[in-house]
Amino acid sequence: MTSLTISPTDLQGINDQVVIVTGASSGIGLATVQLLLRHGAKVFASDLNDMPLPEATQVSFMKVDVTSWDQQLAMFKAAVRAYGAVHHVFGNAGITMSNTLLEDTVDEHGDPVPPSLKTIDVNVIGILYTVKLGTHYIRQSGEGGSIVLTASESSFSRFQATDYTVSKHGVLGLLRALTTNLQPSTSTSTSTPRIRINAIAPGWTATGILPSLVLDTLGPGAYQTPDVVARSVVLLMADKQRHGQMVYSNKGSYYEIEDGERGFIQHGREILGEHYGDAIEGLRRIRERMEEAKVREEGGRGGE
Ligand SMILES: NC(=O)c1ccc[n+]([C@@H]2O[C@H](COP(=O)([O-])OP(=O)(O)OC[C@H]3O[C@@H](n4cnc5c(N)ncnc54)[C@H](O)[C@@H]3O)[C@@H](O)[C@H]2O)c1
Repeated sequence: MTSLTISPTDLQGINDQVVIVTGASSGIGLATVQLLLRHGAKVFASDLNDMPLPEATQVSFMKVDVTSWDQQLAMFKAAVRAYGAVHHVFGNAGITMSNTLLEDTVDEHGDPVPPSLKTIDVNVIGILYTVKLGTHYIRQSGEGGSIVLTASESSFSRFQATDYTVSKHGVLGLLRALTTNLQPSTSTSTSTPRIRINAIAPGWTATGILPSLVLDTLGPGAYQTPDVVARSVVLLMADKQRHGQMVYSNKGSYYEIEDGERGFIQHGREILGEHYGDAIEGLRRIRERMEEAKVREEGGRGGE
């Protein structure tokens, strides 16, 4: 875990860049829009709800439900129409817990009913759509760029909100899986797209997702304001060296907890020792064999 400080000069690289923000009308998304505007970015904002003033007059905006592929596709196309390119995407829209799986709900026959998948739909399916479209449109810009995902402290803790915690572990999984499939624009390799991917993991933050009762229970000093989190988002976009990182923010302090000294990736190596390398190498070889098998199968079909 590496502590970091973020100064305004660290954010200068975002000037003139085109950024799409989902979940932009409130909380962390809105604070990020405000910070992006202050640093000269061109913002395309989206949310289920309208943007508040004055930001509503300063950004392009589209009402979008992130669980709809068609609506997200329309958002990316509209951003390209408005600004000519997409450089960075902030996949941020999210909702709180829908169920713990332990509610004993039954139908009229007394049979258990399936759990609501609403949180999974917004927090996982929504972000998968954002990333899929984001990689397509950032690639089209030809200049490289980055994606920032909103994970959470619950991505790496035993938080009791079951489906929410599952969803945020999913976001961390997405970061880890794509880190090796993408690469920074500073890389010279031509085999993988030049798109960086990073995540933020906010601790308790005073936003629309947390009822005031929760904030009162936590007490002052136990939570941070969303402008703190926004700085970690813009840093990850602006700093071209950052790739595969997750910045945890808690009570106003920042820690990089994936790649940093004693971060989770390093920790995995320490727990598994040489087996860690074996596992990574084993997975790489399996993936190569699967690709080979697919090519052969397609070749075989072509020859019929
Ligand atoms: N506040 C915290 O303590 C905290 C901590 C960790 C992670 N997060 C994450 O931060 C992200 C932002 O939430 P926030 O805390 O700013 O809360 P918020 O409620 O203030 O903002 C979330 C925004 O997302 C929008 N949204 C919800 N569902 C949507 C959908 N289907 N399509 C489009 N937009 C949708 C809402 O309208 C809202 O404007 C979420 O992913 C949340 O899980 C928050």
